[in-house]
Amino acid sequence: MKTFKNMLMGVGLLVLGSCVQPTVNVEPAPVNKADIVIENIMTRVSVRSFTNEPVSREDLQTLIKVGIQAPSANNRQDWEVRVIDNQQTLNEISDLVKKSEAGAQLAARVGDKTIFSNAPAVFFIAQETGAPYSGVDTGLLSENIMLAANAMGLGTCYQAGTVRAMTSVPEAVEYLKKLGFSENYELLNIILVGHPAENPAVKERDASKAKFVE
Ligand SMILES: Cc1cc2nc3c(=O)[nH]c(=O)nc-3n(C[C@H](O)[C@H](O)[C@H](O)COP(=O)(O)O)c2cc1C
Repeated sequence: MKTFKNMLMGVGLLVLGSCVQPTVNVEPAPVNKADIVIENIMTRVSVRSFTNEPVSREDLQTLIKVGIQAPSANNRQDWEVRVIDNQQTLNEISDLVKKSEAGAQLAARVGDKTIFSNAPAVFFIAQETGAPYSGVDTGLLSENIMLAANAMGLGTCYQAGTVRAMTSVPEAVEYLKKLGFSENYELLNIILVGHPAENPAVKERDASKAKFVE
C-alpha cells in the first residue's frame, strides 16, 4: 500500500515538474544598428500607388521632426515644409491641374488618380530663393523623410515634375498661396506619403560612378 502511495506521489511530482518551465535568461540577440540602417537605405524605393488608409498625424509629425533634423549649410535650415493630409484640399489642387492645358500630360499619366497618385498625405517643400545651398539642404531634408518613412512601413515618392506642372497652372499657383510659404521661398518638390499598395523592385545603380582614387 505504502509503495503504491509513493508511486502516485512520484507520478504527481513528475506531472507537476513537467508543467513548470525552467526559467532561462535568454539574452536578446545583439542588434547591429549599422545593418538596420543600411538595409533601410537599400530597400527604399519610390512608391506611386497607395491604399486609402490615412497616415496618422503622429507619423506625419515624426516625419517632420526627422526631416528638419537634416544638416544644412551653416545650419541655415533654408527650407519650409507644409503637409496636407486633407483629401478635399489635395483633390482641389489636383482638379485645377488636371483640367488645365498645362496639366494634360500629367493628367493622362495619373488617369483616375489625383496628380498625387492618390497619396493620402503630401509634403510640400520650399527652398529659399537665392540661397546657394538651399536645393541641397531641402534634398537632405527630403531624404531623411523618405528613409524614416520606409523604416515606418510607409511608401514615399519625391516629385519635382508634379511641382513644375502645378506651377505652370495660374489657378493652381493662386490656390497654393494657402500653403503660406514666406515671400523669399519657392516650392521645389513634393513628397507623396502613404501606405504602399505596390512593392516595386529596387532599381539597379551604376557602381562605376563611384571609385577609389590612389
Ligand atoms: C529631383 C527628382 C525629381 C523627381 N521627380 C519625379 C516626378 O516628378 N515624378 C515621379 O514619379 N518621380 C519623380 N522622382 C523619382 C525618381 O523617378 C526616382 O527616385 C528614380 O527613378 C529612382 O527610383 P527609386 O526612387 O525607386 O530608387 C524624382 C526624383 C528626384 C530625385
